[in-house]
Amino acid sequence: MANVIVIGAQWGDEGKGKITDLLSRSADVVVRSQGGVNAGHTIVVQGQIFKLHLIPSGILYSDTECIIGSGTVIDPQVVLEEIDQLEALGVSTKNLMIAQTAHVTMPYHRIIDRASEERRGDRKIGTTGRGIGPTYADKSERTGIRVIDLMDESDLRQKLEWTINYKNVILEKLYNLSPLEPEAVIQEYLGYAKRLRSYVVDSSLKIYEAIEKRKNILFEGAQGTLLDLDHGTYPYVTSSSPIAGGACVGAGIGPTAIDRVIGVAKAYTTRVGEGPFPSELDDEIGQLLCDIGAEFGTTTGRRRRCGWFDAVIGRYAVRINGLDCLAITKLDVLDSVDEIKVCVAYELDGTTCDHLPSNASQFARCKPIYKTMPGWKQPTTHCRSLDDLPKQALDYLKFLAELMKVPIAIVSLGASRDQTIIVEDPIHGPKRALLDANGTPLLGDKLPVTSE
Ligand code: GDP
Ligand code: IMO
Ligand code: MG
Repeated sequence: MANVIVIGAQWGDEGKGKITDLLSRSADVVVRSQGGVNAGHTIVVQGQIFKLHLIPSGILYSDTECIIGSGTVIDPQVVLEEIDQLEALGVSTKNLMIAQTAHVTMPYHRIIDRASEERRGDRKIGTTGRGIGPTYADKSERTGIRVIDLMDESDLRQKLEWTINYKNVILEKLYNLSPLEPEAVIQEYLGYAKRLRSYVVDSSLKIYEAIEKRKNILFEGAQGTLLDLDHGTYPYVTSSSPIAGGACVGAGIGPTAIDRVIGVAKAYTTRVGEGPFPSELDDEIGQLLCDIGAEFGTTTGRRRRCGWFDAVIGRYAVRINGLDCLAITKLDVLDSVDEIKVCVAYELDGTTCDHLPSNASQFARCKPIYKTMPGWKQPTTHCRSLDDLPKQALDYLKFLAELMKVPIAIVSLGASRDQTIIVEDPIHGPKRALLDANGTPLLGDKLPVTSE
């Protein structure tokens, strides 16, 4: 039995969907615990492309239970579309469950998300425009509508009438927009409720029962560490807690149930939306990474900003999430690059900085300090073991593992399930996240990508 968290170690889109799908083979339950339809997880199985926003990536396995947990925010229209699309492709959603305590994205959330971005002008966050921030804001303000509210017509009617009248003041007075008609929204959401009812459960109880039965549970991260509301590059973050600790909160389980945390990072870095990005490439190499990596958002289609691997961020993700090991994805995207750079530290106001500054304006002033490595200039998509990799590619991976002081358990060299090297068992391999003051792992003593 192992309960495993898969987390994004950068700014999202690291390939969590592919890695979750891969690991779901040995999972009984897959849980999404944070985020909403801002997430876009692409999975490629035998050439067929699946794009998931809220439904856990375990759904492609017919016996795997998939739970959308309490910490997520649910846009019923999008979830129902996803269910319909999967069913049309022959993927059953009979094992899908939705938390009754998850909050629901309403039309006013989407409208306010877009209007507030417009109003911010130069200070905009670059959100996905899916109403995520306003839904979480209402949750904190205690004016949110939860899935359980949708299940009771009189309750829903009473809550929505009050809330829509309240939101209409904001729409009309602050944004100069048309008010919403409460009855139209109530009818729309009652329609969704009818279809969603059979999926709604007490998700924390379901997960607890699975733990008691010693089932294997995979917690699929959404977004990434640097987008975390508390620990990310605030204010250019999302409104939830996509770090490992957030998985427990969002699923409604205690941290003692977790056996392992796997971080997913690209072999380079991407970011969608606004905010500082020290290793960003505005040149032809950035364009090449974007073209070869097909770096366009799954949710919004926006071009992802591309740059070199940033080990300051990598080390930060190891610390914040207590990572046991890493899955490095998209190594193949670097196949044609002559020289590869890795940001090993920052220069901040004339001094070397090894840590991520918490202050956004300091972070914006950070200049990358690079170590340059030779490229391998040959295809790697066919490689299935470390021995198949060109020496320079292996050296690159070793360097990343040494910089971050965690083992690389998985290397991904293409979008398909089989385009993967399992370096060591990512779930049952020794735990090595804890380091002593000299950086020596406290448990276990070797990195799997060894020097010789
Ligand atoms: P997620 O949000 O973390 O699940 O990542 P996305 O699905 O948004 O973005 C990752 C993209 O890279 C998807 O289109 C994947 O199909 C693709 N992908 C994943 N792993 C690899 C890889 O190793 N190589 C290549 N070339 N593409 C990959
Ligand atoms: P997955 O799960 C990449 C980014 C947005 C924006 C910021 C806030 O596919 O990795 P929001 O709509 O959440 O209020 O936007 O967060 N963002 C993501 N970037 N991948 C994601 O999810 C993201 N989810 C949100 O681009 O910068
Ligand atoms: Mg994505």
